[in-house]
Amino acid sequence: MHSGSVEEPKRSLAVVVLAAGLGTRMKSKTPKVLHQICGKPMITWVSEAVASVNPGRTLVVLGSGVEAVHQYLPQSAEVVNQAEQLGTGDAVRACRQALDGFEGSILVMYGDTPLVTGAELEELLREHEQGESACTMMSVELADPAHYGRVRRDSRGRVTGIVEHRDAGPEELAIREVNAGVYVFDAGPLWQALSRISDDNSQGEVYLTDAVGILVAHGDRVRAHRIDDETVVLGVNSRLDLAAAAAIMRRRILERHMLAGVTVTDPESTYVDAEVSIGRDTVIEPMTVLSGSTAIGEDCVIGPSSTVRDTVIDDGVRLACSHVSGAEIAAGCNVGPFTYIRPGTRLEAGAKAGAFVEIKNSHIGAGSKVPHLSYIGDAEVGDDTNIGAGNITANYDGVNKHRTEIGSHVHTGADTVFVAPVTAGDGSMTGAGSVITDDIPEGDLGISRVRQRNVAGYARRKSEGRKGGKDEG
Ligand code: UD1
Ligand code: MG
Repeated sequence: MHSGSVEEPKRSLAVVVLAAGLGTRMKSKTPKVLHQICGKPMITWVSEAVASVNPGRTLVVLGSGVEAVHQYLPQSAEVVNQAEQLGTGDAVRACRQALDGFEGSILVMYGDTPLVTGAELEELLREHEQGESACTMMSVELADPAHYGRVRRDSRGRVTGIVEHRDAGPEELAIREVNAGVYVFDAGPLWQALSRISDDNSQGEVYLTDAVGILVAHGDRVRAHRIDDETVVLGVNSRLDLAAAAAIMRRRILERHMLAGVTVTDPESTYVDAEVSIGRDTVIEPMTVLSGSTAIGEDCVIGPSSTVRDTVIDDGVRLACSHVSGAEIAAGCNVGPFTYIRPGTRLEAGAKAGAFVEIKNSHIGAGSKVPHLSYIGDAEVGDDTNIGAGNITANYDGVNKHRTEIGSHVHTGADTVFVAPVTAGDGSMTGAGSVITDDIPEGDLGISRVRQRNVAGYARRKSEGRKGGKDEG
């Protein structure tokens, strides 16, 4: 099979990826190929597929307005500038100089077909290498050929050309075999055909697709390699296509995880980005979004209704109805429901962050618990400490953030406010409702609240007064 390993000798293959178009149908400030599918820009999906067939050279055609694409390309890619977007044929022509003297095969594909994988490219290349064609193109039969170019064949089934849907007559529009937009050409015939393409069509564009008809007319053979999976060829031209492509990619990612031993309770409502890893026997409950560089261990239950971004979660973690980002959660932790864990937070093994708790940039020691209604920010909490309900670290004085240090085996009373910077030593306690402004030494109780006084009979007198008032009314 194919492999992207660096040891393999590069084949006599150049790949040309077309990505100069602005993608006007996207109605976006962002170049089309930078729109993301499952956490990766389209151009990255395409670059990865291309890299896996190990080409000697990779050229990417960019134009004005899409310079930002450059920084998303692999180092080895050569950028070719297409001065004006005169069409896909013109975009390939722009590579002529850079490929001067190159004699192998040239694979041309578009930056807006992110679902084509390396496996399909490899198959197409093999077909081309075995056949004696000047061009081998990828095609697929669609129930709805929509806006794709149609593949024309003669009565003996030989490919004679491609007609764009805008230029197609009724008979051609009825053709269901379409151009996937991936082609392998022999270099010589490609440049010859490109030099003959005109812009005599409804769009006034130089269509790469015309190269096929020109080759055939010239007596060269063109073969269409028909693939069965119609989802592969989806070209993203609008936000509708973007959503359709993302849905297919999402399904592929989930299937990969399920086949590797992850239970996905409801694939329809589960969103997992391409780079996320999930260990065996972990269950992903419905309405859960796992994104960015998130890595999840084995035997976890994640969800329902949770969002986890760029977070490392170890084995056996339970996380429900929560939002977690940029954090590390060690084995056996319990998070949720309704918990907000923010960047820079690490929960050590067996820790708990419970309902309506927000933790930011803090380290919570092994076995420590923050069970209810607290805000812990910029804090260091030791092991086996219990934070009472409704504790707040007042970490911000309006100018600077300060740290709170709470030791191991500490028990804080409900509604404690720690006015940072402040420290509660190991084995200390706080009284409920205390505002802690001074350090508490090890083993001591910190308490700061007004002593209670009881006013004799006050409540009874009040309630009798109310009853009297009612009777009068
Ligand atoms: C193209 C094909 C169509 C095929 C479909 C598959 C042509 C004329 N038509 O149509 O037969 O079925 O893809 O998805 O090729 N680009 C440039 N420079 C340009 C114009 C376009 O680099 O001057 C790039 C675009 O950035 C894009 C790609 O070429 O990534 C394809 O262009 P697009 O406008 O999307 O072509 P389609 O209409 O989708
Ligand atoms: Mg397109």
